[in-house]
Amino acid sequence: MGQLSEKVVLLSGGASDIGRATALRLAEAGACVVIGDVATDRAEEVAREVMDAGGRAMAAPCDVRNEESVRAFVECALAEYGRIDCLDHNASWSHTRLDTDAGEIELGVWARVLETNTRGALLLARHAIPHMAARGGGSIVNISSGTSTIGESTRVAYGVSKAALNQLTRHLATRYGRDGIRANAIAPGFILTETAAANVPQDIQDRLAAANPTGRLGHPDDIAHVVVFFCSDAAAYVNGQVLHVDGGHQIAGVM
Ligand SMILES: NC(=O)c1ccc[n+]([C@@H]2O[C@H](COP(=O)([O-])OP(=O)(O)OC[C@H]3O[C@@H](n4cnc5c(N)ncnc54)[C@H](O)[C@@H]3O)[C@@H](O)[C@H]2O)c1
Repeated sequence: MGQLSEKVVLLSGGASDIGRATALRLAEAGACVVIGDVATDRAEEVAREVMDAGGRAMAAPCDVRNEESVRAFVECALAEYGRIDCLDHNASWSHTRLDTDAGEIELGVWARVLETNTRGALLLARHAIPHMAARGGGSIVNISSGTSTIGESTRVAYGVSKAALNQLTRHLATRYGRDGIRANAIAPGFILTETAAANVPQDIQDRLAAANPTGRLGHPDDIAHVVVFFCSDAAAYVNGQVLHVDGGHQIAGVM
């Protein structure tokens, strides 16, 4: 029996990088994973990869910016598996060039970042919580970012969206804890995803790894394993926390 045997997990943004690794690790722990993403073809591929490895998963279209789409995603999970135990809001959108500073950022960019990263978490929670509560509880995991707890001179929308996500997490924890629902956030540091490996110059990767107290960069599995823990009953008394998973990068004061 896996740690998450028979648990049904909604996973937003599961089509790539950290989301893909999370789908694989959740299924390995015994969960049925419902992968919701706007990248539907890639979400299908991840679901197939999970099933090829002997796990249980399905892909369903989900645009977390759209309430009807979120509602349909939740309904799809219920129709297939009959219950919802956990929710991992991993989907996120930002744009290095467009997400600039308070003086320059276009309001459309600001809105899209907050709609995806923060309002999307609210919509998913709103539609999943009644089904979790009806079965006696569940676990919500929001994927935040290390940038949510520091100041940065750029990426104003991303930082605000993730800091707000931390507070939404604390709200959910205090509001729904007595319904048996826990909510926690993970704040990853720099994770060497396929996208990052392709776009971040090697010398910067080397410098970041050397400066990290753990002596290496993070990998998608480093986040995925913590999602599994938060979803599991081993985390039954962990509620309302923002856990930095960054090898100690931030406590060492490395920028
Ligand atoms: N990679 C890192 O170094 C890092 C660092 C800190 C935090 N994070 C956070 O970890 C999470 C995963 O990061 P990643 O690097 O794997 O990101 P990614 O960009 O590779 O994946 C994000 C996924 O979200 C999906 N998505 C975007 N908009 C959506 C929408 N409206 N509805 C549904 N799905 C949507 C994308 O299609 C994609 O599959 C994100 O929340 C990110 O902010 C990542």
